[in-house]
Amino acid sequence: MVVMNGPEKGVADDFGRLHTYLRLSVTDACNYRCVYCGPAAAHVGLSTDQMVDLCSIFYSMGIKVLRITGGEPTVRSDIVTLTSRLADIGFDRLSMTTNGEYLCRYAMDLKKAGLDSINISLDATEDSLYESLTGGFHVRAVLDGLQAALDAGLLVKLNCVPLASCFERQAVQLMEVAAAYKVPVRFIELMPFGNGARCTGASFPLLQQFLEDRFGGGQLIPEGMISGCGPAIYRNYAGVSVGFITAISDCFCDRCNRLRLTARGRLKSCLYSNKYLDVQALVTQGLPQVDIEKRIREFVAKKPARHGAGRKDMAEEPLSTFGG
Ligand code: 5AD
Ligand code: SF4
Repeated sequence: MVVMNGPEKGVADDFGRLHTYLRLSVTDACNYRCVYCGPAAAHVGLSTDQMVDLCSIFYSMGIKVLRITGGEPTVRSDIVTLTSRLADIGFDRLSMTTNGEYLCRYAMDLKKAGLDSINISLDATEDSLYESLTGGFHVRAVLDGLQAALDAGLLVKLNCVPLASCFERQAVQLMEVAAAYKVPVRFIELMPFGNGARCTGASFPLLQQFLEDRFGGGQLIPEGMISGCGPAIYRNYAGVSVGFITAISDCFCDRCNRLRLTARGRLKSCLYSNKYLDVQALVTQGLPQVDIEKRIREFVAKKPARHGAGRKDMAEEPLSTFGG
């Protein structure tokens, strides 16, 4: 019997990894200036129609989960209609990553448009620390946005990038807010992109030790108990589900199921590689869908086995150009 990686299964690479998850950056622009991100750029990129058409193609190739990222997705004034058009494609799950500043305004409409879940980037809750990490923004709007997202019925997770200089404060603040709003928190290891290359991320063994000393617990939560399909490993501290995403120190490349489409229309099969396929060019040339699919499959097939973290060429682009 011939077993085929048919369209419904995902996009395979030469190492047998199946890709079922796409992160779509809907804009490079961002209202924030996080210390480890930027500088933000605003490139002209895919049109809305091109984004929707390309996502339909990925869907027909077996992508099941779509995450809308940025930059900051909600700086687009048409974010609700765009979300609704992407939802209509029929993905099993549609998520968004946001800094939360405009969530109060959009949470209910996004849910109605078909969004299932939202990850809110929240690096601190103490005003002065939040301001210094984000480039002068107030945390109040984000906390109100978090409540609005919960009220709208969206599944919410918090994302925090702990820094060596202040991770204890960040950890305590995130534990408090996660407990108060009953949502999971994930700590994401700093990656050396953009200004991230000039910051020092917290050591994750130290962070875990700190959480254990401070809150007790730390039992592993079995995979599948928390909705999501990402690379986080979850532990329970004082009733809060805490995820750890250690992309650099303990890479999960062997089970990576992700593809990324940048706002400029470039497909990236690995976050750390500078190689990309210019899918906008393919669409603009008017290539038939079968040929676009073929080019995508050929590109994904050659995805690197694992990242070469620390390579110099990684540090150039900030995460705002490809959405994490
Ligand atoms: N390293 C790790 N995470 C980063 N983010 C932005 N830049 C970096 C970096 N250099 C995070 C944001 C947000 C998500 C989209 O990516 O905090 O949670
Ligand atoms: Fe904007 Fe996210 Fe970068 Fe912060 S990390 S500047 S919110 S894109």
